[in-house]
Amino acid sequence: MTVHTIRRDFELFRSEDPPVYFDNSATTQKPDYVIRAAEDFYKSSNANPLRGLYDLAMDATDRYEDARKTVASFIGAGDPSEVIFVRNTTESLNLVSECIASAVEIKEGDNIVVTVSEHHSNLLPWQRLSRRTGASLVFIEPDMTGLISDGELEKKITEKTRLVSVAHVSNVWGRENPVKKIISAAKSVGAVTVIDGAQAVAHTEVDVSMLDCDFYAFSGHKMLAPMGIGVLYGRKDLLEKMDPYMLGGEMIEYVTREDATYAEIPHKFEAGTVNAGGAAGLAAACRYISKTGFNYIRDQENRVTEFLMKEMRRIPGVEIYGSKEPSEHHGIISFNIKDCHPHDVASILNEDHICVRAGHHCAQPLMQYMGIGSCVRASVYAYNTLNEAQRFINCVSRVRKVLGY
Ligand SMILES: Cc1ncc(COP(=O)(O)O)c(C=O)c1O
Repeated sequence: MTVHTIRRDFELFRSEDPPVYFDNSATTQKPDYVIRAAEDFYKSSNANPLRGLYDLAMDATDRYEDARKTVASFIGAGDPSEVIFVRNTTESLNLVSECIASAVEIKEGDNIVVTVSEHHSNLLPWQRLSRRTGASLVFIEPDMTGLISDGELEKKITEKTRLVSVAHVSNVWGRENPVKKIISAAKSVGAVTVIDGAQAVAHTEVDVSMLDCDFYAFSGHKMLAPMGIGVLYGRKDLLEKMDPYMLGGEMIEYVTREDATYAEIPHKFEAGTVNAGGAAGLAAACRYISKTGFNYIRDQENRVTEFLMKEMRRIPGVEIYGSKEPSEHHGIISFNIKDCHPHDVASILNEDHICVRAGHHCAQPLMQYMGIGSCVRASVYAYNTLNEAQRFINCVSRVRKVLGY
């Protein structure tokens, strides 16, 4: 496997003058294999899944349920019914925060624990739950390299903790949180554990059974799959106790004028017509990533990240956030250039057809904690090359001069 063979799988990279796509944390590009799988669903199996009794509809249902099995095996879920298809990570986290109180008592005096570096999608839902229940929101504070100490965990996860929700990998620092330790600390006090895996699943093996978390959320579009399909993994016994999130077609067992009983999981949480084409694409993405292999993915990400960090450190005025160790970045390099607004940096990079993200990265409390308003984020994936990294470095070297410094 080489980066050049992988690049051939992507239309964008086969084009004559492809951009340097360094915004993979926002969303990845999609290989032909994934696009074809989604397209093939609509071309040859399109009917409303889970409804019709004719062959075509049964084929649509089979494809949808096969996709669930593929995803379950990709993340090590014990039972496919623990995999709920949603739109994205945001929906997964809203689902848990809206429905968890029907299964677990959360009340005044209890604590809900997050880290200060959460994406807004893993913060706002808990803010609302804490307002509703009277529970306090407690923040784990990593050091400035993104590292969470054992002492901090002991201080913040206590007998009062009812729920802990943390990112597996930070979307700003790129650092992996010690989720195994966090989950076991939470379990030792009987708290529910939720992991936001949005920035992890494309970059590292995830095995929810080994992690022993209660919930694990991720988005297809950040792992080569189409937009509009995501996953909530949930522990069976909890999902069974929880009330449904949305009500309507497909999630019922029996309905009278006044009342309804609900379908079994996972369908209880999948109201309305499902995104079967997206699910087919997501299953294909799981197969594509498995075939590519996490060893290759990690090696290539590390090769490019290491080069970038080494060269960026030589450029006067560049400050990189997070760990000094490239392999602890999962391809994410957040940085600022002295005196230069991140939006100006991104615009100058764009003139050289280099795509990066600039702003607060949906992590405003983290920006406040770090004492910055915003930053630039370059995020690489398995298909990015050292040549692209060199183009990026050449451009970053010129930024201060272009802006008159
Ligand atoms: C850590 C993290 N959590 C949650 C999200 C939200 O993902 P989505 O917009 O796909 O729901 C993102 C997206 O950038 C993220 O990086």
